[in-house]
Amino acid sequence: MKQFFSVADVSNLSNIVDEALRLKQAPFAYEQLGKRRTLGLVFLNPSLRTRLSTQKAAMQLGMDVMVMNMDKDGWALETRDGVAMNGATVEHIREAAAVMGQYCDVLGIRSFPKLQDREEDYSEDLFRKFSSHCGVPVISLESATRHPLQSLADLITIREHWLEPRKPKVVMAWAPHIKALPQAVPNSFSEWMCRAQAEGMVDFTIAHPDGYALAESFTQGATIANTLDDALVGADFVYVKNWSSYNDYGQVLPVKEQWMLDNRKLAITNHANVMHCLPVRRDLELASEVLDGPQSLVIREAGNRVWAAQAVLKRMLDDN
Ligand code: CP
Repeated sequence: MKQFFSVADVSNLSNIVDEALRLKQAPFAYEQLGKRRTLGLVFLNPSLRTRLSTQKAAMQLGMDVMVMNMDKDGWALETRDGVAMNGATVEHIREAAAVMGQYCDVLGIRSFPKLQDREEDYSEDLFRKFSSHCGVPVISLESATRHPLQSLADLITIREHWLEPRKPKVVMAWAPHIKALPQAVPNSFSEWMCRAQAEGMVDFTIAHPDGYALAESFTQGATIANTLDDALVGADFVYVKNWSSYNDYGQVLPVKEQWMLDNRKLAITNHANVMHCLPVRRDLELASEVLDGPQSLVIREAGNRVWAAQAVLKRMLDDN
């Protein structure tokens, strides 16, 4: 594996989930694999889970890890080509990425969208330029439109908590928020679940209010519902997440109906497990009674971020 940017970089979903679950049983089985190899983690935005879980995964493979908080400690980056850098930017991504590639065997980068220009965000310009200029394998730690390490951890969590022979009904439910959030997590979860559905692993439904449809390229094959209560009937997993509008790009649109999952709505489901990528705003996105209740998987889901990252890093070390 030379890049981990989307589900398209994984040839077989079952195989990588199985590998992650084997690593969970034997975290240090490959502790020699990464000896004398260095992972660089580059953050242009904040992180708790992605940063710590990827560091832990790398350490369990014997790697050294360096973390660069570009947003706080780095030079202001220029990403445009063909412009005179006579403004606030100090270093071009061409040199910055190439230099980091001199120090590291594998790099990871996190960069959120600006949510101002849809075409610019969906071009994934920063990730693509970083990847092409650094000269080493690159892992997305969340880009403008996707969060593949989160989605792999989510699929691992679903597999781990589903022991029945029939396929589980997985519902991704839009949730309220006061801020405009990216579509990266829901795009990515949808992309991974649509692929899992095509491979016979799940039945996948997306529930969102009018105006919150995701880009169609991420939702091929999903059932779409505009009423939360209808979508929750028979659900085995509910994946709660807010996102801002794709069509009215980056806007928070008014929603009259109640979309926060609470115990009353959870009772409509088939005793569903509840997931959220975290961080979560309690009693705004998701009711505390659900988060603290017996059907919440959010902490175990975050724990599985380690095994997702370790499975991806192992493949990169095996192949490079
Ligand atoms: N879920 C997730 O990516 O968490 P962080 O933003 O804290 O890394």
